[in-house]
Amino acid sequence: MIKILQSELDNYLPKKGRLARAMRYSIFAGGKRFRPRLCFATAEALGKNPTRILPIACAIEMIHTFTLIHDDLPAMDNSDYRRGKLACHKKFDEATAVLAGDALNTLAFEILARETGDAKVIAEISRALLGVVDGQVADIGSADKKISLAKLKSIHRQKTAALLKACALSVAIYLKASPKQLKALTAYAEHLGLAFQVADDVLDATSTREKLGKPVKADLKKGFPYLIGIEKSIKLARREKKKAIQALKIFDEKATALVSLAEYVVERNK
Ligand code: IPE
Ligand code: IPE
Ligand code: MG
Ligand code: MG
Ligand code: MG
Repeated sequence: MIKILQSELDNYLPKKGRLARAMRYSIFAGGKRFRPRLCFATAEALGKNPTRILPIACAIEMIHTFTLIHDDLPAMDNSDYRRGKLACHKKFDEATAVLAGDALNTLAFEILARETGDAKVIAEISRALLGVVDGQVADIGSADKKISLAKLKSIHRQKTAALLKACALSVAIYLKASPKQLKALTAYAEHLGLAFQVADDVLDATSTREKLGKPVKADLKKGFPYLIGIEKSIKLARREKKKAIQALKIFDEKATALVSLAEYVVERNK
């Protein structure tokens, strides 16, 4: 599926000019494609063909990449590297990076409107993205402040878990999942999302992905390891992973791919 995703992304993206080059640079910089994988695995859990939700997977990956391009800008995290390469604003320039982000976000919603024609899907993803923006605002606002664990969890839920949840829920809505399935997927994705960002903080703090670009100091000061230490953070991520997997019972063996993704979240090294 990931090969097909790559070629779909290639088809959707503009081909010519500096803006197109910047959009393509960031989209094809070697991200894990975790969100599309989550979309495909959700379709599988529902017993549906994942090719049906390719436009949703592409659109969410574009939205995700847009948030990362902007996250790296000097006005935000000021990170020079992303996905093991120069950040978009370093490879090109700040204006181009801002605009490449704008274009990816707009293109994503154009694809969603054109290909799904489903207002509920678009509303779900829009709501999630507004949550991401709120999370980023709170994240920036808490820089250099010692914040409570509860506050940090709430930031993580918004800035990271919200879009992960939208992967599962937008696909579930599009594929007409039952209320019971929606409830199970919501619980799964909420726990998965928290596990994902806690694991991200641990990776930042332990610097095992140094080659991918050094984590910025401000980020280290507000992650979970800073508040509760590395060991406890790893335990928390594992606990959240377990809860995520427990939520999947109703899908039986159809949930295999969703279970693997939850395992991957806490074992990953990039
Ligand atoms: C990074 O997301 C930003 C967070 C929300 C933690 P990913 O770790 O999924 O980044 P890529 O797409 O693989 O580069
Ligand atoms: C990024 O969070 C979250 C979003 C872009 C929404 P981080 O700032 O922790 O992500 P990295 O560490 O730069 O990938
Ligand atoms: Mg950030
Ligand atoms: Mg960052
Ligand atoms: Mg981080």
